[in-house]
Amino acid sequence: MKNPFSLLRKNVGVDLGTANSLVYLSGRGIVINEPTTVAVNNKTGKVVAVGTEAKNMLGRTPLHITVVRPLLGGVISDFEMAQEMLRQFLRQLANNGPFNYYQNAVIGVPSDLTEVERKSVEDAILGAGVSKAYVIESAVAAALGARLPVTEPVANMIIDIGGGTTEVAIISMGGAVTIKSVKVAGDKFNEDIIKFVKDEFHLAIGEPTAEELKIELGSAVVLSDKLEMLVRGRDLATGLPKEILLKDAHIRSAIGKSLKVIVDAIKDVVEVSPPELVGDLLQRGIHLCGGGSLLRGIDDLISKELAATVTVVDDPLTCVARGTGLAVENLEEYSQILDNPLKPREIKL
Ligand SMILES: Nc1ncnc2c1ncn2[C@@H]1O[C@H](COP(=O)(O)OP(=O)(O)OP(=O)(O)O)[C@@H](O)[C@H]1O
Ligand SMILES: [Mg+2]
Repeated sequence: MKNPFSLLRKNVGVDLGTANSLVYLSGRGIVINEPTTVAVNNKTGKVVAVGTEAKNMLGRTPLHITVVRPLLGGVISDFEMAQEMLRQFLRQLANNGPFNYYQNAVIGVPSDLTEVERKSVEDAILGAGVSKAYVIESAVAAALGARLPVTEPVANMIIDIGGGTTEVAIISMGGAVTIKSVKVAGDKFNEDIIKFVKDEFHLAIGEPTAEELKIELGSAVVLSDKLEMLVRGRDLATGLPKEILLKDAHIRSAIGKSLKVIVDAIKDVVEVSPPELVGDLLQRGIHLCGGGSLLRGIDDLISKELAATVTVVDDPLTCVARGTGLAVENLEEYSQILDNPLKPREIKL
């Protein structure tokens, strides 16, 4: 007799990001979208909370609980924590159902992972109760999620500006033909803002304030409407709380250098790509995704610097997860893309 659970078994697509992790469940869509955060009890080594619940504990925990981010710059820096977080997410979805509740999983991985790192991602998902794991280059998943014709012999450029990394990829025939990844993205913008406020105003602000400033005032080009926000921090000279008024121009100068790193990475990829692919790109346009693509005017900046049409995809924060979902719902159609991504050309610059 067939395994009575086999009809109930589900497929999942997973985007394990530096800032946010998403799970797509077959037949349902994106069912988990939470920060990549884990709270752990140092005394017992046990995970006490994951995702939003863990992030909400930041700064409010007793001494024996630490809140950690198990990914750094797009790669797993704390394997056990990452695996436990995935396990808890998948278990929540399965309502604590049978261990082999999940049939197949497709998980996005950065294209520059080593074989060992890739295996560790696969092991993490297998350990979370999935029978078979496939990996997909996250740039390819992003292109799928953006509904670009990834398996056709035309070139598409997709730029994923996430929390830890910006990946600039040219995709053709199901793989990344050229790819460059820089560890400059949303997290770095926040660091830049903290440093700017410290250097220019002698004020110490925390990461959540920097994130708020980036979202409320941040822009890559001069805006027609001026924006400003009152910010509270600790005066570095007196040690006392102080309030200052920050404007969009301040945030633009804080993140300017990092934006240049991203623009230069895009130019590098275009420069080393075969001329016929570059022709495709200029004709087909450049697509932006990832949370960083929500920065005001980043599309205009890239468009001006590259002299190409630039579009931010719909719902850029879920693009990779939707791509892994499409892949897991159509495993046969995309079998060429999965498990065996084309080796991207190394670009040493
Ligand atoms: N409106 C916004 N403006 C600017 N940045 C934003 C906005 N909304 C979200 N972000 C930034 O987007 C980043 C998260 O994006 P995303 O979820 O795509 O990253 P990730 O996939 O977790 O990271 P990575 O792909 O690098 O592993 C964070 O740094 C966040 O601050
Ligand atoms: Mg990402």
